[in-house]
Amino acid sequence: MCGIVGYVGKKKAIPILLNSLKALEYRGYDSAGIAYIKDHDIHIIKKQGKIKNLEQSLSINEDNHIGIGHTRWATHGIPNEVNAHPHKVGMITLVHNGIIENYESLRQDLTQDSYTFKSETDTEVVAALIDQMYQKNHDMLQTLNEVTKKLEGTYAFGILCDEHPDTIYAIRKDSPLIIGVQDEDYFIASDVPAILNYTKEYYLLEQGEIAILNDTCTFYVEGKEIKKKLKNFEGDSSSVSKSGYEHFMMKEMMEEPDVLRKTVHHMKEETFTFKDYQSIDIVACGSAYHTGLVGKYLIEQYADIPVNVEVASEYRYKKFFPKKNHLVIVISQSGETADTLAALKRAKEYSLDTLGIVNVKESSIAREADQVIYTMAGPEIAVATTKAYLAQVTTLSLLALKTAYEKDLMTKEEYEEILHSFDVGAVKVGKLLNKDYSEQAKQIYEKTDLFYLGRGLDYALAMEGSLKLKEISYLHSEAYASGELKHGTISLVEDGTPVITVMIDDHIRSKSISNNKEVRARGGYVIAISNTDLPSDSYDDLILVPHINDFVNPMMALIPMQMISYYVAKARGCDIDKPKNLAKSVTVE
Ligand code: AGP
Repeated sequence: MCGIVGYVGKKKAIPILLNSLKALEYRGYDSAGIAYIKDHDIHIIKKQGKIKNLEQSLSINEDNHIGIGHTRWATHGIPNEVNAHPHKVGMITLVHNGIIENYESLRQDLTQDSYTFKSETDTEVVAALIDQMYQKNHDMLQTLNEVTKKLEGTYAFGILCDEHPDTIYAIRKDSPLIIGVQDEDYFIASDVPAILNYTKEYYLLEQGEIAILNDTCTFYVEGKEIKKKLKNFEGDSSSVSKSGYEHFMMKEMMEEPDVLRKTVHHMKEETFTFKDYQSIDIVACGSAYHTGLVGKYLIEQYADIPVNVEVASEYRYKKFFPKKNHLVIVISQSGETADTLAALKRAKEYSLDTLGIVNVKESSIAREADQVIYTMAGPEIAVATTKAYLAQVTTLSLLALKTAYEKDLMTKEEYEEILHSFDVGAVKVGKLLNKDYSEQAKQIYEKTDLFYLGRGLDYALAMEGSLKLKEISYLHSEAYASGELKHGTISLVEDGTPVITVMIDDHIRSKSISNNKEVRARGGYVIAISNTDLPSDSYDDLILVPHINDFVNPMMALIPMQMISYYVAKARGCDIDKPKNLAKSVTVE
């Protein structure tokens, strides 16, 4: 949530700041701004709305070599130019990702020291605080050391000081920050994709470290210089471009067969299983929570371990009943989701074993969990997750399978046959991605409400289908357990209400068929996603998907739902990769 960037070096700063900001726009896009220094003067340009608005008001070729930038997802104060970053107070200009929890009391103290504030943000208060401390000692290193002791909350800051016009300072706590290096050019960024056009080499700034960047790059902890190890981004920098696709979301869906194959390959090497655990909690947010629900079904059914799935924002505050041989799994694409991270920390406070299933390498959750399994999705840029969700589901599915085998709940032949079927699944996913979903999109895009139904595993998948549609098309949609609809909500079904029913679970298909009929009897337009033919009076439109086995079937059902959401959003003219009000990485509570 919010992306920060910075550059100091020999190249022109503005184009670099803009390019880097564009790569981070998935983190927030309600306003953007940059600050650069030219001839010892600081210039700040901020605009409401997306980065293209900012770009239009900048002179790209201006000759300056140092600057910081920000793309915002508003927390304190509405998205307007005044609240946009960078904020300057006295000699200090800064950009911020995170939330300062004690900003009100700090603001009161600073007001008494005759500081005044233009914005409603917590960030401007920190600029004033740093300025106040710096005015006393004129030593940025000492100031930043002291300031971190006064701040409560989360932050990554990129900071400029009028008295050091050739230097960027950076600090962080619980919000990510990397320092990119290309010869004697230095970058700061909230995430690696921001620097990939320039370099793959970077340092990971750790909590409590201060980075000072000018014609060199130095790091300090508690005032003492430290040496850090340079890291290398292993992926392909094309993973952060659209490669000719109109949207990242489509590009990322098209990568799903490959992601599935990579995940299987990766999991074959993985030695971790659930065999030593008697119970499991799965904790996550949004789509990752839906992954947990699919995982619950497979782990309970095949690995014979009871699983409790909870949204992280609830779990982090609930009463704990610690048990022996209990595992807490947290799932997160970004590895930075504030609630999931807090839930993980809470579980660790109770000394519970923790496993992180995470996409972004060395993210906070990946580093905090006792064990980590990386999902093999590669960088995901579209705000609506597709390939990372598929990778999470595949990972949990394979863990359930391996555990079942290790617990002797299936034979070696069964295990190997199912393992092999994932490769078949990857081919089938490719075929499903190439099917035409325009007819379903046509039926839906002008409606106002719709439902997704399913039972058991199908319900878990329906929840994700519904979320995908809501987040990118702004259509109201609800996922319901098929059997529960008649207990009230069916009153909302009218003539032509689209109802998408997921029907890949063999065990309860006959029940779902009856539920479809109940909906049709009330005028609902039933689009069934099924892996077997259905009675013709139980649907209006049937999307037939391959039937492989319970471990791979979820991947067959999720593709049509992702594609339908994409085409509905496109027909409605929505900004598919950057849906309104959302951000990819939700680093606030
Ligand atoms: C998915 O399309 C959503 N944008 C959202 O629900 C997301 O899954 C959720 O915020 C969790 O994010 P994480 O996986 O990065 O923790």
